[in-house]
Amino acid sequence: MTINEEMKKRRTFAIISHPDAGKTTMTEKLLLFGNLIRSAGTVKGKKSGKFATSDWMEIEKQRGISVTSSVMNFPYQGYQVNILDTPGHEDFSEDTYRTLTAVDSVVMIIDATKGIEAQTLKLFKVCKMRGIPIFTFINKLDREGREPLELLEEIEEVLDIQTCPMSWPAGMGKRFLGTFDRYGKQFIQYNGNEDETYIPYDDLDKPAYSDLVSNPTYEAANDELALVEEAGDDFSLEAVLSGEQTPVFFGSALAPFGVQNFFDTFISMAPAPAPRKSTEGVISPDNPDFSGFVFKIQANMNPAHRDRVAFLRVCSGKFERGMNVKLARTGKPIKLAQSQQFVASDRDTIEEAYAGDIIGVYDPNAYQIGDTLLEGKNLFEYQELPQFPPEQFQRVTAKNVMKAKQFKKGIEQLVQEGAIQLYKHYRSESYILGAVGELQFEVFQYRMRNEYNVEVMLEPIGERVPRWLRAEQVEPSMYDERNLLVRDRSDNYVVLFKNDFSLNWFKDNHPDIELIDLFDVN
Ligand code: G4P
Repeated sequence: MTINEEMKKRRTFAIISHPDAGKTTMTEKLLLFGNLIRSAGTVKGKKSGKFATSDWMEIEKQRGISVTSSVMNFPYQGYQVNILDTPGHEDFSEDTYRTLTAVDSVVMIIDATKGIEAQTLKLFKVCKMRGIPIFTFINKLDREGREPLELLEEIEEVLDIQTCPMSWPAGMGKRFLGTFDRYGKQFIQYNGNEDETYIPYDDLDKPAYSDLVSNPTYEAANDELALVEEAGDDFSLEAVLSGEQTPVFFGSALAPFGVQNFFDTFISMAPAPAPRKSTEGVISPDNPDFSGFVFKIQANMNPAHRDRVAFLRVCSGKFERGMNVKLARTGKPIKLAQSQQFVASDRDTIEEAYAGDIIGVYDPNAYQIGDTLLEGKNLFEYQELPQFPPEQFQRVTAKNVMKAKQFKKGIEQLVQEGAIQLYKHYRSESYILGAVGELQFEVFQYRMRNEYNVEVMLEPIGERVPRWLRAEQVEPSMYDERNLLVRDRSDNYVVLFKNDFSLNWFKDNHPDIELIDLFDVN
């Protein structure tokens, strides 16, 4: 197969959702389709038992699938499927956001009983700003949930995206009869657990289905569907691929119901790898020269070896194990000797990979998040990875002042790895750490002790709302402990507002000062 044919088969995506919406359950069903696991329940268990957060190794071990199989891949109906995990729950972090820079599409799972929740909204914003196509699966139809029309309205309003229902549910909870598959022109009948019947629209007038079609729940759904077809937006693949419209499917990941239909439709519509912007213009995924970028660096994945693994998204050409590439940032040659792909709980060595694939390469402390690796004459770099706004902040100091050197070195390396973000007070050298998730601080503290031999003291300054300032508008006297003025790694000024209330008060009183939300500029 040619590079072009291999590339076109790739479907690289992530599943985003709020905790408990059903991401693990859905992932598990997809892995069953891919024959990666044999029975349901294999992936589960990550939440069972509370882990000792003080022990990084334990965290690694117990987080199970979210670490060891950051990427799950399998062939399916002629496609090569790559699912990237987006850690949620306690391990929600910048990595979760950054994973979204390495995918070509996203599946958003919404709990029908809850609608849009906080974490879905945050992850959605990242997809929107990057124009990533989003496919929506409204889950838990086997439970009594909110009205489908109301859920669509909420998606449109809160997320500011057009919706196009690809299926339409008849009832919910105990009254759930199945869904109209608008795209496949069939009714998918729900027969309880693990059983569904596909009835083509043309067959629905047959006597065998008279009970179904005369059921008041079916009739009501049919009327609603007619309304949706008349008043709703037409399906447009072009609008979907540009991120303006989301196709919406209804079902139950647990039953499972509507999952196969959803996945088959999704796989056939989801985009193959697209050209990516670089400092030398747009690079096509079928460019024969290999290129890719590092979107995540993971330390200590294997407790037996103190190794770091860099996760590389292949963007063009063909990767071959042991190949020589260049690190664009320095121009230095590097041999990609150890390479791994992450399947279920094993690390398999891989021999070749193409655009869309994710590989893990051994990192001899040489890589930074966002680094481009490539072969060929041209040295270019892929677009810088966006910075994501942290929410939690803590002051950090070394317990022993004699350890200042290791302290600085440790912080710098961990920051470079993207494990945590670093800020400094606007006029002193005191350090403030920022993170998206609370767990990042504990991991930071543990790694400083174990890898750099430095005990650090952390003093929480709470959840804050960061806003970036334009350099010419910085007036230090306007800020205090409540709304703290700091500098980021690139010496940009940032105000850490105490809360939304303080932010809004400030906005009202200083309408002339531009406050930049990172979600809006990336
Ligand atoms: P997450 O990864 O997004 O956090 O969610 P997960 O799949 O773990 O699902 C969260 C809970 O919701 C689980 O129940 C799961 O069984 C349930 N669930 C997922 N999909 C559906 C669905 O379609 N219908 C119904 N009724 N429930 C669903 P749990 O009680 O927290 O866990 P468990 O005891 O079942 O393992």
